[in-house]
Amino acid sequence: MSHKTIIPQPGILNISPYVAGKSVAKGGNRVTKLSSNENPLGPSPMARAAYIEAAGALETYPNSDHASLREAIAKVHGVAAERVICGAGSDEIIAFLCNTYAGTGDEVLYSQYGFSMYPISAMAAGATPVQAEETNLHTDVDALLAACTERTKLVFVANPNNPTGTMISEAEIARLASGLPPQALLVLDGAYAEFVEGFNGHAALVESRDNVVMTRTFSKIYGLGGARIGWGYGPAHVIEALNRVRGPFNVSAAALAAAEAAVLDGDYTEKCRVENAKWRGWLRNELSAIDLASNKSFANFIVPKFANKQAAAEADAYLQTKGLVVRALGGYGLPEYLRITIGDEIACRAVASALTDFMKGARA
Ligand SMILES: Cc1ncc(COP(=O)(O)O)c(C=O)c1O
Repeated sequence: MSHKTIIPQPGILNISPYVAGKSVAKGGNRVTKLSSNENPLGPSPMARAAYIEAAGALETYPNSDHASLREAIAKVHGVAAERVICGAGSDEIIAFLCNTYAGTGDEVLYSQYGFSMYPISAMAAGATPVQAEETNLHTDVDALLAACTERTKLVFVANPNNPTGTMISEAEIARLASGLPPQALLVLDGAYAEFVEGFNGHAALVESRDNVVMTRTFSKIYGLGGARIGWGYGPAHVIEALNRVRGPFNVSAAALAAAEAAVLDGDYTEKCRVENAKWRGWLRNELSAIDLASNKSFANFIVPKFANKQAAAEADAYLQTKGLVVRALGGYGLPEYLRITIGDEIACRAVASALTDFMKGARA
């Protein structure tokens, strides 16, 4: 619905709103949400306790420089605290980047099956989103480099990527960073970095270059999606610019406290990584044995391929009757796939069993 005289900025009404993963199912009693890549184990008990403790001081504005959390992140990730910026989810860091570096006439480049907030934030800033084709659901560095123009201001690559779960090598990422035109900033989205053993989201590349920034989140392995907190790390010139568009109290006190406790609880994070890897491997094997193959995933979800888009839609409907809510990928241009978050053991076994029945002919 549009108004005659009060009109949004050009392009705003062309944005396709973000479609969040469903949280309700049509059938079954117990709903298991496997549609938003949340951590089935929840946050560290220490993070939960810190969040609850923060409820004792709700009348006070949060700290605005986030120093304590930035120090904790610096300690755990071996980065420089003064070049960390915190946001209300990494979504907010993505928006800061678009608002700071891209405007009317500029292009924001991302790969074909890139996270849908990249085009949304680009368009909200007045810029034009541009997609580069992927190869077998993998980011294609040559295609990204070929799509660069003198108007390209930002290039977003999630590694591992959502919704494909695939990952490309550090050497490929470095080749991309070196090949970009001089006015373009490379954004490495590490929302799923913690799920990859020994991987720090290309922090070393951020360190060694002046055109690379990294975004990270507390919503995935840290189990704090509901608290809305993420962070970015980059060269001083980028972080200084982003801090000019950041609101002083953009992150709540409870989220800051929970995130700090979460990042410092390395044992719990490692336990979550190991559990995820175990059940991800198990589920992938189970599904490939019933002709639902998927690429190797490096994240906390797998993306099996169905015979066609109708089969994927029917499987989605069937899973819902069992209370299993997964993510249909038609909006990403992948209608023959479903994205299934790796839940706990019970959830993984339930998915495998339901899809086995489905492949044997069961229908919703
Ligand atoms: C690749 C990627 N980047 C960023 C985000 C945003 O996460 P948040 O805003 O919760 O930090 C997500 C969430 O699904 C994601 O998959």
